Amino acid sequence: MPLVRVLNLGNESFEGIENQSIMEILYRHGYELDSACGGHGQCSSCKVMVLEGMENLYPPEFEEEEAIEEFGLAPNERLSCQAKLNGKGDVVIYLI
Ligand code: FES
Repeated sequence: MPLVRVLNLGNESFEGIENQSIMEILYRHGYELDSACGGHGQCSSCKVMVLEGMENLYPPEFEEEEAIEEFGLAPNERLSCQAKLNGKGDVVIYLI
């Protein structure tokens, strides 16, 4: 199973499955991230920095692309509620 490792949560790793969002994976393990829009990809309160494994996430879909542009996310930042594992490997993130 692919892992999401969170550098600033004690380097803890959380197992996920393909098509699960980073937010969902952390939530299932007891960590609730900020989600001003309720996880609908319409704010940026849930953004995370992807340090490794960007290629192991599906590319942003339309809604996330819109938010990335509107809120000026950096190329290595994703919305955790929208960024989903593609099942091909692990991801290392930093909570902003
Ligand atoms: S919670 Fe609003 S974009 Fe993710």
